[in-house]
Amino acid sequence: MDATVKALFDAALAARASAYAPYSRFGVGAAVRGAKGGVYAGCNVENAAYPVGTCAEAGALAAMCLAGETRAVEVVVMGWRVGTDGADAPLCTPCGGCRQRLREFMAPDALIHCAGPTGILRTFTMDELLPFGFGPENL
Ligand code: THU
Repeated sequence: MDATVKALFDAALAARASAYAPYSRFGVGAAVRGAKGGVYAGCNVENAAYPVGTCAEAGALAAMCLAGETRAVEVVVMGWRVGTDGADAPLCTPCGGCRQRLREFMAPDALIHCAGPTGILRTFTMDELLPFGFGPENL
């Protein structure tokens, strides 16, 4: 893994450890690298009123905006059941809503790495995950 991806991987792994997921018991961590080089992480935060919960990617993007960055160039996301080691977990790709959230800040060729506990499992471009996506330039 190259050093810039490793920094995202480490940040996402650490963020996942803080996931608040008492309902799904599915912990997710995400980290985005902003165009200025900053690394911003987030975890999923659930709620007793289930639909109000937020995804890890949303938290990471909020942290990026808070730091004054509005372009993301690369993302790592990882998720598996709390209390398991994640070794055999299926690939955790961003949900539909998060694909749209990422689309707001990422170019079509920007990379989204889906990871397991020991490394990147599969890499997609933004355009692969959300083809023909609606974005700011549509308005
Ligand atoms: N989740 C994320 O945080 N990101 C995704 O892209 C997929 C789903 C969270 C939401 C919920 O807290 C748990 O995973 C199970 O859906």
